[in-house]
Amino acid sequence: MQFTKFGHTGLTVSRMILGTGTFGKQTDEKEAHRMLDKAAEAGINFIDTADVYPPGAEGGGAEIIVGRWLSNKRSGFILGTKGGEKMGPAAWDAGSSRKHLLDAIDASLRRLNTDYVDLYQLHRDDPATPIDEMAEAMDTILRSGRARYIGVSNILAYRLAKALGRQDTLKLMRFVSAQPRYNLLFREVERELFPLAQEEGLAVITFNPLAGGLLTGKYKHGDTPEKGRFSAELGGFGQMYHARYWHEREFETVARVQEIAKQDGTPITTLSVAWVLANPAITSVILGASRVEQLMDTLAAADCKLDSALKTRLDEVSIEFRRGDAGK
Ligand SMILES: NC(=O)c1ccc[n+]([C@@H]2O[C@H](COP(=O)([O-])OP(=O)(O)OC[C@H]3O[C@@H](n4cnc5c(N)ncnc54)[C@H](OP(=O)(O)O)[C@@H]3O)[C@@H](O)[C@H]2O)c1
Repeated sequence: MQFTKFGHTGLTVSRMILGTGTFGKQTDEKEAHRMLDKAAEAGINFIDTADVYPPGAEGGGAEIIVGRWLSNKRSGFILGTKGGEKMGPAAWDAGSSRKHLLDAIDASLRRLNTDYVDLYQLHRDDPATPIDEMAEAMDTILRSGRARYIGVSNILAYRLAKALGRQDTLKLMRFVSAQPRYNLLFREVERELFPLAQEEGLAVITFNPLAGGLLTGKYKHGDTPEKGRFSAELGGFGQMYHARYWHEREFETVARVQEIAKQDGTPITTLSVAWVLANPAITSVILGASRVEQLMDTLAAADCKLDSALKTRLDEVSIEFRRGDAGK
């Protein structure tokens, strides 16, 4: 496992993070704990979770599972969670209002059975809340000791630049990281978010390296999966994945990546994760799995160095997904 600095902070983190989005729905607690054990054995010291996980079920389950595993080893891991998604019936049980964020972090800490997280992130931008209110709430969360660092996920570059500017002007604690979606089939963030993060010294931790499993090559366009990320068992989440990736152009690109992987003698899954890690803007990649066996190919990317010719070939076959003109 490689380690690196978390943006311009003094924190050192593993270049792979274990995601927990499947915990409590596709992955039961026993399997989730096996996965956490396996990740820790491989040198991963960073766990990514969120109050709303797992999708397709009532939120909170993943944090509870992670909290139980961490109970006797909390100080050995960097723990990141997120808030801001809908967590209750009231109108204010979502978003970046001061009320919701302070409620959300306390609820996360209770579920995680810890009195602090290392990284607290806005799960998504909430344009309906003034940036100053959100920034002050995140500052309170940090200065009260509930979080050691703050970051943001799913935000446009111009909105993040505005937020950083307001944090500086108001002398509030700054976001130190961004968590965007990024993979061979979704590269728009290379255009504005990555340059902003590099200029501002933000850590970039990316999710969805396999496009929810499409970049394993296990699907065919004509399939109707009965299980897994693209199936009806995950309700609206499965539909969202269909809308994102289940298109001819994506399948054609996967076939080209698969061909390159075959020629190189590397599993497509390993190659897809190694391609993410090869981007100098990336601090760490968040791995996702439903079963421990799935982790083996993605963990193997830790030892897979892409030479520049191979990286260029992968860049070229996926170039349309960088331009932002891929019809999504
Ligand atoms: N900030 C955010 O908004 C956000 C959003 C999404 C995820 N995340 C975080 O990022 C983590 C990773 O994202 P992701 O789960 O979308 O990553 P991903 O790598 O794109 O997809 C992971 C899924 O691909 C399938 N898969 C993985 N390895 C496989 C293998 N070797 N063979 C066959 N199938 C395999 C599994 O799905 P099936 O078993 O269902 O086929 C697995 O759950 C999440 O756990 C979560 O912590 C954050």
